[in-house]
Amino acid sequence: MQRKKTPPKSGLKGWSGRFSEPVDELVKRYTASVEFDRRLAGFDIQGSLAHARMLHTCGVLSAQDVSDIERGLADIAAEIERDEFDWSIDQEDVHLNIEKRLTELVGDAGKRLHTGRSRNDQVATDIRLYLRDATDRILALIRTLQENLVTLAEQHVDTLMPGFTHLQVAQPVSFAHHLMAYYEMTLRDAQRFSECRNRVNQLPLGAAALAGTTFPIDREQVARELGFDGVCSNSLDAVSDRDFAIEFCADAALLMMHLSRLSEELIVWMSPRFGFIELADRFCTGSSIMPQKKNPDVPELVRGKTGRINGHLVALLTLMKAQPLAYNKDNQEDKEPLFDTADTVIATLRIYADLFTGVKVNKDAMRAAAAQGFATATDLADYLVKKGLPFREAHEAVARAVRLASEKGVDLAELSLGELQQFSTLVGEDALDQLSLDGALAARNHTGGTAPEQVRRAIALARKTLSA
Ligand code: ARG
Repeated sequence: MQRKKTPPKSGLKGWSGRFSEPVDELVKRYTASVEFDRRLAGFDIQGSLAHARMLHTCGVLSAQDVSDIERGLADIAAEIERDEFDWSIDQEDVHLNIEKRLTELVGDAGKRLHTGRSRNDQVATDIRLYLRDATDRILALIRTLQENLVTLAEQHVDTLMPGFTHLQVAQPVSFAHHLMAYYEMTLRDAQRFSECRNRVNQLPLGAAALAGTTFPIDREQVARELGFDGVCSNSLDAVSDRDFAIEFCADAALLMMHLSRLSEELIVWMSPRFGFIELADRFCTGSSIMPQKKNPDVPELVRGKTGRINGHLVALLTLMKAQPLAYNKDNQEDKEPLFDTADTVIATLRIYADLFTGVKVNKDAMRAAAAQGFATATDLADYLVKKGLPFREAHEAVARAVRLASEKGVDLAELSLGELQQFSTLVGEDALDQLSLDGALAARNHTGGTAPEQVRRAIALARKTLSA
């Protein structure tokens, strides 16, 4: 005869009623998410309060129940705040932990809170509240970084540096113009995050497990109380959609990609071979063996952390690929990549915003580097074109002049008029003006160009946008 297993008693999980034996220890640990989703507690409580109040408005919960729930959830928030809350993997996740404690504190009202709701719409709501908050913090930090970039740019409109292509000296640019390129990139990043926020800010609650609920609920009331712009229109989609999380990670990956490019430049610029800038000591570290070293660890780590952010994006895309409707437990795996993405982006932005207040610029090294790479060769070619030579021929003539200068170990500007005229008889006295670095800079005077006048305009526009 088969031994009858004793059904689990109270104190077991919120769903244990239909099971005849307790969950295996390893399975319990494998399926629990409380270690990482407990950071959603504040949002979970917010969502529960709105849900309970709505159930009362709709006549499902009594006034007494709601006030018990409010009191209990306030106590729980305080326990969590004081780090006295007893988190347990016996209760699987943040939702069941809080619900169990609520029931301990206020009795039956706690057991009624889950009426017309499922953890499926509950967790989707929590993540959206969390992401909305993270997005707002990221947007504020991008703005601070931009302000500090623009402030540095303002001081360096007339600071001339070599602009590069292929990391070879190409044409002179204003250092401010170079910095403002990153302003533009981060501006697009901010736009993307705010557009993503619109899609995050829709309420899934009310979808219940997947099909909605039989209770007369008012989802709009909950949306209003929680500051959502609207409610998710389809219950199946509401509980299973994680597009918004993927989108957030994609926006984060683009932002980090931009910051990794900036990092690479900082690293190159501060290498003694370039010597363009110095970072404040507080952002650098030394070597345990080489006493002379001042290493750019922060930019190197930003560059490195970009890899994990890309990884998180791919993890979420892969997580969602081919999932049937509606909720699947796979989705529990969305949290760690998402949290780490937000944490990493926030920490990176905080540190970079501060870093740009302590950049020391070596203008002489920048100018000297620009003077070494025949950076005005295009200007001389343009000069010949203006005298009537077709561009391809002008290009060829200047290339030969560059070869001569290179053989002599001098810059184009150091060749005599006679020497230049060997390559084209069109070269006149006035050609020498074209070869000055400052002349080359000032000549690119159109929207988006590097002429100081244009850079000042771009900075003023950025200031206006930032103060709006
Ligand atoms: N911890 C779960 C998650 O993060 C909550 C939802 C669980 N729902 C369920 N039916 N097992 O996705």
